[in-house]
Amino acid sequence: MENRSQWGTRLGFLMAAMGSAIGLGNIWRFPATAYENGGGAFFLPYLFALLTAGIPLLIMEYTIGHKYRGSAPRSYRKISKGMEWIGWWQVGVSFIISTYYPVIIAWAIMYAFFSFGTQWGADPTAFFVGDYLQLGDPGTFGALVPMVAIPLLVVWAIVLFTLNRGVKKGIEAANKIFIPALAIIFTIIVIRAVTLPGAMDGLDAFFKPDWSTITDGSVWVAAYGQIFFSLSIAFAIMITYSSYLPKKSDITNNAFITGFANSSFELLAGIGVFAALGFMASQSGVAVSEVVQGGVGLAFMVFPEIISQMPASGFFGFLFFASLVLAGLSSLISISETYIAGVQEKFNISRGKAVLLGGGLATLLSLLFATQGGLNLLDTVDHFINNYGVALSGLFEVVAIAWFAKLLKDFQAHADDISDIKLGAWWKLCLGVITPIVLGFMMLQNLKNEIS
Ligand code: PHE
Ligand code: NA
Repeated sequence: MENRSQWGTRLGFLMAAMGSAIGLGNIWRFPATAYENGGGAFFLPYLFALLTAGIPLLIMEYTIGHKYRGSAPRSYRKISKGMEWIGWWQVGVSFIISTYYPVIIAWAIMYAFFSFGTQWGADPTAFFVGDYLQLGDPGTFGALVPMVAIPLLVVWAIVLFTLNRGVKKGIEAANKIFIPALAIIFTIIVIRAVTLPGAMDGLDAFFKPDWSTITDGSVWVAAYGQIFFSLSIAFAIMITYSSYLPKKSDITNNAFITGFANSSFELLAGIGVFAALGFMASQSGVAVSEVVQGGVGLAFMVFPEIISQMPASGFFGFLFFASLVLAGLSSLISISETYIAGVQEKFNISRGKAVLLGGGLATLLSLLFATQGGLNLLDTVDHFINNYGVALSGLFEVVAIAWFAKLLKDFQAHADDISDIKLGAWWKLCLGVITPIVLGFMMLQNLKNEIS
């Protein structure tokens, strides 16, 4: 038998899993998504999605990795030859994400330095799209932008160096530094944010429940979408990471810890972001609703403005963008490990060669997003990944395992055998019935939105 790499400690595995889960999705996706889908009322569908799909699927993915001890393609292949493609599909989605996710980390690196002296000036939006990204005509790639391409290559150097060092000395060691550092930095930022004038108005806006949204199907779709993306589920990641678990490991407990840690970080980010938005609104004398944004706009247009208005702006700006970098790097490491492990096992090559091959190709393709047309391309690709990649991946996965292979009962026995918490009938109900129905509905809803 081969000598499979293993995590050094349980904490090491948890740090890596949390590192994957906690990412840009927590910091810039969750706060705006919650706000737009009912504020305080969003917590109901969100918690429902976490408990009926997020954590149950995480338990299932940990079980698959632990039981079959392979990358996603190999694990699915061991379940059934006809299912290997699901692993490759998920690895493929991860590969695509890994071509644009690092570009955002590259921007954040530059912005950490721009924070000193608030180099974005009086109009951060114009600075971002004009001076920094040098956006060209839509649809054209235009020239490579060195101030994006150079930090991008730095990101890849860090990630590929880490992956090349292997599971314990690379991935585990890096996450054991990144995640505690991220927790400390982010706590400082949130404390600063909630003590700014106007912060309470922001929190009011964030937590104020709009219960009328609760009967709206699209709000539930948003909750499930957030949970899937945020927990890195159905991306081959958690299967790959759990394939390095020692035989004696707790699965169910680890899944609950990962799920709750990720959601706590999400809540913390929501508080920090909305406190800061409240501050900005009060400084400019407008309503909080007028400054709410998510995604790229929040981090690179709104936050620079907030940072400019803050005392000690260089320091806090640096911390904010450093937190994006740390959260992003640990997620990027996990996304890239899926195809590196997949290729390594499929072609029976060394880790070093797989890193060179997979990482090299991803690096080259990521340069497309470092051109003048990069942001446009990023928006388009991200849209398709979020609307189809995630829901389809999850749907293939649960249908294959619950309905075709009928493995839920076996998996439950496998998890119960080694875990403190025992799974009840609820677990099979969630994965065999609720999750497939919700994901099917989600696909239809996204298709409908596409057409209309
Ligand atoms: N879970 C990460 C986040 O919340 C993002 C991510 C998605 C990472 C998909 C890997 C794969 O930002
Ligand atoms: Na997350």
